[in-house]
Amino acid sequence: MRTNQPQTIYLSEYRVPAYLVDTVDLRFELFEDGTRVHSTLAVRRNPESDAGAAPLELDGDSLVLESVALDGKALSEGEYEDRGDKLIVESVPEQFELSVVTWIEPQNNTRLEGLYKSSGMFCTQCEAEGFRCITFFPDRPDVMSRFRTRVEADKSAYPVLLSNGNDVERGDLGEGRHFVTWEDPFPKPCYLFALVAGDLVEKRDTFTTCSGRDIDLRMYVEPRNAEKCDHAMDSLKRSMRWDEETYGREYDLEIFMIVAVDDFNMGAMENKGLNIFNSSCVLASQETATDVAFQRIEAIVAHEYFHNWSGNRVTCRDWFQLSLKEGFTVFRDSQFSADVGSPTVKRIEDVNVLRTAQFAEDGGPMAHPVRPASYMEISNFYTLTIYEKGAEVVRMIHTLLGPDMFRKGSDLYFQRHDGQAVTTDDFVRAMEDASGRDLSQFRLWYEQAGTPVLDVSDEFDSGQGIYRLTIRQSIPDTPGQTGKKPQHIPFALGLLGSRGESLPLRLESDSQDAPTERVLELTGETHVFEFHGLNECPVPSLLRQFSAPVRVRYPWTREQMLFLMSHDPDGFNRWDAGQRLAVDVIQSLIGAPKDSSIDARLVAAYRHLISDSSLDQALVANMLQLPSAAYLIELAESADAPAIHEARERVLKHLAIALRDDLVACYRRNLEEGDYAVTPEQIARRSLRNTALAWLLQINDEEGRELAQRQFRNSDNMTDRLGALRALVNSDYEEDRERVLEEFYERFQEDPQVVEQWFSVQAASDRAGQLPQIRALLEHRAFDWKNPNKIRSVVGAFAGQNLAAFHRPDGSGYNFLADQVCRLDDSNPQIAARLVTPLTRWKKFAPAHSELMKSALERIRDKSGLSRDVYEVVHKSLAG
Ligand code: TRP
Ligand code: ZN
Repeated sequence: MRTNQPQTIYLSEYRVPAYLVDTVDLRFELFEDGTRVHSTLAVRRNPESDAGAAPLELDGDSLVLESVALDGKALSEGEYEDRGDKLIVESVPEQFELSVVTWIEPQNNTRLEGLYKSSGMFCTQCEAEGFRCITFFPDRPDVMSRFRTRVEADKSAYPVLLSNGNDVERGDLGEGRHFVTWEDPFPKPCYLFALVAGDLVEKRDTFTTCSGRDIDLRMYVEPRNAEKCDHAMDSLKRSMRWDEETYGREYDLEIFMIVAVDDFNMGAMENKGLNIFNSSCVLASQETATDVAFQRIEAIVAHEYFHNWSGNRVTCRDWFQLSLKEGFTVFRDSQFSADVGSPTVKRIEDVNVLRTAQFAEDGGPMAHPVRPASYMEISNFYTLTIYEKGAEVVRMIHTLLGPDMFRKGSDLYFQRHDGQAVTTDDFVRAMEDASGRDLSQFRLWYEQAGTPVLDVSDEFDSGQGIYRLTIRQSIPDTPGQTGKKPQHIPFALGLLGSRGESLPLRLESDSQDAPTERVLELTGETHVFEFHGLNECPVPSLLRQFSAPVRVRYPWTREQMLFLMSHDPDGFNRWDAGQRLAVDVIQSLIGAPKDSSIDARLVAAYRHLISDSSLDQALVANMLQLPSAAYLIELAESADAPAIHEARERVLKHLAIALRDDLVACYRRNLEEGDYAVTPEQIARRSLRNTALAWLLQINDEEGRELAQRQFRNSDNMTDRLGALRALVNSDYEEDRERVLEEFYERFQEDPQVVEQWFSVQAASDRAGQLPQIRALLEHRAFDWKNPNKIRSVVGAFAGQNLAAFHRPDGSGYNFLADQVCRLDDSNPQIAARLVTPLTRWKKFAPAHSELMKSALERIRDKSGLSRDVYEVVHKSLAG
């Protein structure tokens, strides 16, 4: 495949397109041995381009070109050049019609980009650059066209034929074939094109918009999944209402369709009017989906729906602007999830992901700004930085402007840029213009990579009653970026008195009444804030709600952590104080003698959490989760992964032994009666009882074992059944482990989503997921190298979650991962490049490990014909 180095694309080299395409007329002839694509483009010179009469250049990838015609006249071989990745027509008039016929083989497409087959149906994935795998086209988001698509296929194998927009014509073609024609009235970039053909059942519903229009809602799934659509459909209707109420956004087409496919590289895709979902991100039933899955589905359905405005009506000028749509849309979907669920829990979940994985990315060799300046392969930039940090950046604008000004800003943005392909700068400008605020320094959040560090110190002047808080910011160097400027950081602060009361934050300029919470704005390198009128030294509650994606360093004492854990009125900071305390205790045990003591105050704090049922149980359920080993590694300087794992386990077992009776009582108290529902209250109860079970089984508690077995057999929902399975699998009861795993598989083997759960429970467990067992899972008949979900649930879960096994000191885990990456590089480079991630963090680890990780990376680097995707990740990791 590849012999030379892939090219780097630079934002600074952006030029407007030389040619625009006003309309695209497509005809797909779908056959079992291939598909013929007829495309007719109405092309004209771009008046905004200074390229003049430049040659026409269209992108292509893996296409067999059958013919080219200009204004109806076939071109001879000398009149165009087919370079494989480009089709070049040297001389073209100012305006013309170009017709191209290509032949493609969806049945052999394992990359899952462009048109491919998944369990017998045809489907597409065009973002970011998949449309060029279908036909020659200017495959860039600033070329927006109106699409008309005719799909032709065998009628009995593919009764359902879908594309974007409205169906305008259908009919028979003879010989058992039929067609449907779709027309999308809204101009769109080609990455939003979609086509589906299959034998699918249709689920229908209606939504009446705020202006009284009835929208046809349709879900298309394989017949065996017909009963798993209700939750997604309800989520869709909730999202549509919410976007009207919160952002004033009404849906625009007459039909909105969702399709579920089993083989999909990512979670879901917002194609105009025809969203395509990974089955695991849309199908759910009480018996087969966990609470986590239900919530994830609701969030992803919302996310894709919200893209209709933040992404489709207003799209990206180029792929450097990816966070324009992704950051904003993630912000929107997390606001939605917070509104329909528990806001504090949602914030805890988001921050956990951010601090564990995005901070690691920002501190690693692939660190990049929210708006990158260069890339080799754009698929590698669908990252936590673009999505999650990008959402945090929008959230900070929301915090700085307040909800009303923010809404004025989003209204202006949608109105000003409807139908356009724009930049993150345009987004910020709309926010500035609507609010009158100056966000010029704030823009650095888009340009500078790396997680800012805030060093906080304080002193109390008892004579004058002044509390002085000093905050110094610094931004670490990242590959290719040094000497960064201070950023504009909103820092939410509260001060607590010794009885836990909220103290007024009185600045010198203030009159008598001062608020008990303030958002301080940091813009310089160092700030000193003075709070007046205090009788005692307060306990500071810093960065409430995690008001900015930064690391805070402050010399908290354990007393202060315990105090905040039980008194901070900010639920998020209560949780955070508990996490910090647990981190502090675990860190003090890393490498310490086996018999070194564990702070009794931790046990007391957890006992209080478990037994005081007057506390917010949803918050308690989260506070009980010890910081993950991945987070502890992220916090470490030179991480000894096995030692971190061991210290964490020691604390968990210590807590479980000390709190054994409280855990049993907690389990019994949370055994619920009543019908299953996915409400914050019930989710909290299930989470509490499953945490209790997991802990009891860590200490080989016989009663816990019986409770787990009973729950495994009798539960009426997947959260409890899987909770019991996981607890037993991670216990020392070896025969139980084998038996429940077998029973579970026996029962659910026909359900791919459940089998994926079954794989990952094993792959993520240090008991059931050691390398020989992982190898056996890869040989299991339910495993499939062509299915990204299966790969993620075994290989991904092993390398990402099973830290004890992956970081075996002999390097076997690293070598195993390198082997799988090399194997996948040929069939699915996008997935291969994502799987490399754990190895890219090699510098984070103690020398013995990092050397082995590095040589695993070098083995991947030396594979011949490495894809551009893996090339970029591996080379940047070795260089950074
Ligand atoms: N735009 C999609 C989303 O965030 C992301 C996506 C779906 C994607 N499939 C992809 C990105 C394939 C790259 C490749 O909702
Ligand atoms: Zn998205």
